[in-house]
Amino acid sequence: MAGHNKGGRRMTNIVVLGTQWGDEGKGKIVDALAQEERFRAVVRYQGGNNAGHTVVVGGERYAFHLLPSGILSPSKDCVIGAGVVLNPQVLCEELQQIASRLGQQHARLWISEKAHLVMPWHVLRDRITGGTVGTTGRGIGPAYSDGVARRGIRWADTRYPGRFALRVEEEAMWNRQLIAAMLDHWHIPGEQREQLQLHEALDAATVVAGYWTCIEEIKSNPLVRSGDVSAFLDGLLSQGQALLFEGAQATLLDIAHGTYPFVTSSHPTVGGVYVGTGCRPRELHVLGVAKAYTTRVGAGPFPTELEDEVSERLREVGHEYGTTTGRPRRCGWLDLTVLRYARRVNGLDALALTKLDVLTGIHPLRVATRYCVGGDSVAFFTVHDADVEHAGVVYEECAGWDQDITGVTRFADLPGPARQYVLRIEDEVGVPVTMVGVGPGRSQLIRR
Ligand code: GDP
Ligand code: IMO
Ligand code: MG
Repeated sequence: MAGHNKGGRRMTNIVVLGTQWGDEGKGKIVDALAQEERFRAVVRYQGGNNAGHTVVVGGERYAFHLLPSGILSPSKDCVIGAGVVLNPQVLCEELQQIASRLGQQHARLWISEKAHLVMPWHVLRDRITGGTVGTTGRGIGPAYSDGVARRGIRWADTRYPGRFALRVEEEAMWNRQLIAAMLDHWHIPGEQREQLQLHEALDAATVVAGYWTCIEEIKSNPLVRSGDVSAFLDGLLSQGQALLFEGAQATLLDIAHGTYPFVTSSHPTVGGVYVGTGCRPRELHVLGVAKAYTTRVGAGPFPTELEDEVSERLREVGHEYGTTTGRPRRCGWLDLTVLRYARRVNGLDALALTKLDVLTGIHPLRVATRYCVGGDSVAFFTVHDADVEHAGVVYEECAGWDQDITGVTRFADLPGPARQYVLRIEDEVGVPVTMVGVGPGRSQLIRR
């Protein structure tokens, strides 16, 4: 996907996507790239408010769930594409919060009319069934399910209040029956049923009233536009503007290519960009974000997971608690088989390695280079549960370092072992590491 600017120079678009199980620091990398003039728009193409993207600027911390991380830059356009599932109440709150912090000094926001809405019954269904996967409980899976089942309510349906009210009534009626059957099937006790506040979530009039207030507030915001995002982006490309796509979740949480069924319900991998925006496939630079170690929230395979003092240390030093749910993240060593797999599935052009500073003082460091499955050496992450369960993980040791690196701005100024760690990753994954994160702040990013 490339356009030409006025001088005829080709402008390459970039997608920033997660290579592991999420929370790699995509928000920080998107925010840093969004400072570059060449990018006109920052575009979310999938996921919903299950995402939690943290951006730290001048000591101020922002956590974005639905708003793209480019929202802080007033000269940009931010875009919510067709592949995103949108909870209007959450979007309304996020817009209020950003306005209270920045006034009207933030990016414009375009919302695709094709985006499906997360409705209260989606949240209920997620809370009833999401336990085994350990979902974020935000209604994401059920909202995508209804979309695929062709019974979703879309942002376009909010154009006409009558139509919206009718669709809500139809879906509320269906969901009352569905949810009653689910509660009986799983023998959910009365006390728990009360906590779900079924009436509020399933009464059509209550839902319409609650949602409509938010929808009107969003639409009356002078910085918000709704419409055909595909046409808008096409126009920008024709003018030679470059686009920055912001992935949420990550490769191993992809519904098709991740550790199914312990995944989210969208396509964070590169293909999601096209489906989730309606943008034409052209030249696209794929920047994978990888944490210098591995974390995972929720259930599912995690071969390099640690449950010892190193994992405690990673969690405390790296503040590994979910941005969305506050849950402690599971922590472990860097898994290069995962990064190789992410390279293959996404066609990675480069890696941004974040949180290298969190590894300071750990001796020695270890990285997984291969798995051993049934006597065979496997270089790529294997997504088959049974294989992963019986896989032996082959580690290599790397020397650690003790110097504080949080103020380092040039790669050459990193301690030798820290440079070696980065070079080892490049070598094993076969992709250049073009950015290295040494702290949460916008400026704590080494460019190579
Ligand atoms: P995302 O979901 O991929 O955007 O990542 P999250 O925001 O959920 O989690 C990443 C966390 O690490 C956030 O709190 C960031 O502020 C923080 N972070 C990002 N890059 C770095 C880094 O290089 N060093 C440190 N110490 N923290 C970082
Ligand atoms: P960002 O964009 C980490 C995980 C959940 C659960 C699984 C399914 O901040 O990296 P869902 O609510 O999506 O149906 O949950 O996916 N998960 C994430 N883990 N970071 C995220 O987003 C995540 N979004 C979902 O913990 O295991
Ligand atoms: Mg996150």
